Amino acid sequence: MTVLDPTLFAPLSKSIIRDAMSADCYQQLDDVLIFDSVTSTNDQLWQRLEQGLNSPAVCLSEHQTAGRGRRGDQWQSPPAGNLYLSLFWPFPANTLQNGLSIAIGIGLINTLKAHGIKDLQLKWPNDILVNRHKLAGILVESRYGNQQNIVIGVGLNFKLPTATRDKIQQPTTSLQQLCTDVPCRNQLAGHLIQNMIETLTLFQARGLQDFVPLWSQYDALHDTAIQLFSDDATITVKAQGIDENGALRYEHQNQIHTLSHSHVSIRFAS
Ligand code: BTN
Repeated sequence: MTVLDPTLFAPLSKSIIRDAMSADCYQQLDDVLIFDSVTSTNDQLWQRLEQGLNSPAVCLSEHQTAGRGRRGDQWQSPPAGNLYLSLFWPFPANTLQNGLSIAIGIGLINTLKAHGIKDLQLKWPNDILVNRHKLAGILVESRYGNQQNIVIGVGLNFKLPTATRDKIQQPTTSLQQLCTDVPCRNQLAGHLIQNMIETLTLFQARGLQDFVPLWSQYDALHDTAIQLFSDDATITVKAQGIDENGALRYEHQNQIHTLSHSHVSIRFAS
């Protein structure tokens, strides 16, 4: 069992999270699970599904022993007062999910902005950056059965101990570095969950159409030279926003191409 030092940060609190949400939204959740330590909050929700529980639920933990990022990366998850949060959401079987990651990223950035965090940008598909340093990451996982089951995991850095920062292969930042008044973690968690539920509801009804026009104001890659790394090649291209399905548009050898899956790793070329 992880021993948490409560003098370092206020522990996760179900009641503060609930009070930060509208009653309508909170009531849509069948479970709000809070742990000191788990392998991964995404895993907890998949295990809940394996037990036959397929209703909306959230899971938060102070610490993850096997936090996952995209493309099989690890997500460093020390017990330092960061946010490790996952939401399980069942979609009807025929709901298209193209671009869901984009919608969630825009929703999260709007919530962080409302908490006074400035200069936020999105690096396709949904890394949340400030000045090219990663503040938060989003992992959308899906499994299909009678319904389309989605788990959306959000990792948001409040505080990165040096030992953790040294293990991360890319420039990172935290709310402690960015803000003089760091937002209350529980309230922010409640607002993020509320926003995710609202985003999913809008996305289910209308797809990506309400989100695509918002992308350009946050696009960290716009008109920028980037490198695309796949298993067999690395190419340098120029990013050109997203298309109506949320795919990345890029220019290569005077032609526009699109990239719709996030298995390719993207880096700034300079
Ligand atoms: C990424 O940028 O690569 C995505 C990172 C997602 C991390 C979060 S932390 C909560 C949830 N549980 C996990 O194991 N991963 C996600």
